[in-house]
Amino acid sequence: MILVTGAGGKTGRAVLRAAAARRLDARAMVHRPEHGEAVRAAGAADVIAGDLRDPGVLALAVKDVDAVYHICPNVHPDEVKIGRAAVEAARAAGVRRFVFHSVLHPQIEAMPHHWRKLRVEELLLASGLEVTILQPASYMQNVLPQWSAIAARGLYSVPYPSTTPLCMVDLADVAEAAATVLAEDGHAGATYELAGPEALTPERIAEIVGHALNREVEVEEVGLDGWAERARASGMRDDAIDTLIAMFRYYARYGFHGSPRVLTMLLGRPPASFEAFVARVLAGGG
Ligand SMILES: NC(=O)c1ccc[n+]([C@@H]2O[C@H](COP(=O)([O-])OP(=O)(O)OC[C@H]3O[C@@H](n4cnc5c(N)ncnc54)[C@H](OP(=O)(O)O)[C@@H]3O)[C@@H](O)[C@H]2O)c1
Repeated sequence: MILVTGAGGKTGRAVLRAAAARRLDARAMVHRPEHGEAVRAAGAADVIAGDLRDPGVLALAVKDVDAVYHICPNVHPDEVKIGRAAVEAARAAGVRRFVFHSVLHPQIEAMPHHWRKLRVEELLLASGLEVTILQPASYMQNVLPQWSAIAARGLYSVPYPSTTPLCMVDLADVAEAAATVLAEDGHAGATYELAGPEALTPERIAEIVGHALNREVEVEEVGLDGWAERARASGMRDDAIDTLIAMFRYYARYGFHGSPRVLTMLLGRPPASFEAFVARVLAGGG
């Protein structure tokens, strides 16, 4: 049995689906009981609900599992505390195997959520556990919340220049790689960068989506103040807004680059292109 933490989010459900495809039994730890149905539909055999900051819930969650797949909630200010608690719970329960869902280039201090993941990686290396660290690039699926606006208005909005090159990866490939390292021996001690085939600019993304939708799609550069205002209106926490603005500033200055070679090795095939991802979305898959 594998425990998947943060299981109710998009990453967690993708990992559960990929684990089920490899016939791995998984327990899903979700934030709230109402997420239970979605994770069972994604393949979870068992569900536990609670706050990742609660050591009592974590102790119950790791009971009788062979491996932990730890996904921290996105841009969580307590990521290091949560990571430490998850490691301590695994050790106390005698779980040997621990896979951490990190991020590509966690060593970038200018992006606070990346830097916090590096701190979790550091404590994992000293944990004595059999550790595998996965470092995914930014997901192609991050475009999906804008999908209907793109289709309706022909506008793809980004808070950085339209020429910024960004390395992206299909979350389905990331999840398949996650299931592979959980199912196979020989991945303990490894840190794997998981990136798609190329860095794409927003201009190129608009071109690919426009071609697939058979309509003109333009990139709309929204300023950081405008983006923050919209994010605040949608209920995003101030610390998350500040963190994401730091990320957008970094992207604008340096772009975000990675190589597909490690993911190709893990999948036994090249990772999906953005064109293939878009074709799958149009065919009804996500
Ligand atoms: N998105 C990307 O491009 C990308 C790329 C590389 C790595 N990552 C990493 O992948 C991880 C997951 O990202 P995601 O976008 O899949 O997350 P997500 O969809 O936002 O899911 C996070 C889940 O965690 C739950 N949660 C929030 N606070 C919690 C708490 N205190 N205790 C227990 N559960 C809690 C949320 O439930 P509620 O909704 O009920 O709060 C939600 O179900 C993050 O660590 C992120 O940094 C993401």
